[in-house]
Amino acid sequence: MSDAGNIKVSFHLNGTERHLEVAPEYRLADILRNDLSLTASKTGCGIGRCGSCMVLMNGRAVNGCLLMAWQLEGADIVSPEGLDAFATARIVKAALVEENAFQCGYCAPGITATLTALILEHPFAGEADIIAALEGNICRCTGYHSIIRGALAAAERLRDQPHTGEHAYDLDRRINRAVQPSRQGVPVEIAPEAAD
Ligand code: FES
Ligand code: FES
Repeated sequence: MSDAGNIKVSFHLNGTERHLEVAPEYRLADILRNDLSLTASKTGCGIGRCGSCMVLMNGRAVNGCLLMAWQLEGADIVSPEGLDAFATARIVKAALVEENAFQCGYCAPGITATLTALILEHPFAGEADIIAALEGNICRCTGYHSIIRGALAAAERLRDQPHTGEHAYDLDRRINRAVQPSRQGVPVEIAPEAAD
């Protein structure tokens, strides 16, 4: 049954085109977890404070709990599940693992998304940049030292890579689209009840 208040919205999610019909204020965090079974991003505080819901939107880190369905039209969204398609994210994740950056891991997907966005935007990010970027991500376990060490190691490795002049997000996205064209255009229908 269709809800008269629903809107149609189309966007890319992890390289796949999605078409949804949902309430305009339905949150991306809920779409991912409740409707698409993508549960890496968490809904911790639900009010933009903890960063556990972080995703990439057009290459920048945003809180999924603050992103409404009406804001998704035409957007390029990458949830934590899609980060591995990006060379930058794989390097960030490897460096975090090597530093044993996390304990319980609840914050890990959000922090990985934040750090990936930071280093895509600022390949020369230093400790102060990393600390500033992580202001919106709360970790209850670690004290952040291991996370910052991992981020610094990732930034150092990425600095050593050859640069083409193309923005790292565009370069990664172009390569990703080149290797995953077969999943484009798959429609997804969401039951109107899910928007309640
Ligand atoms: S759940 Fe989105 S910032 Fe906490
Ligand atoms: S490792 Fe437990 S909240 Fe960060």
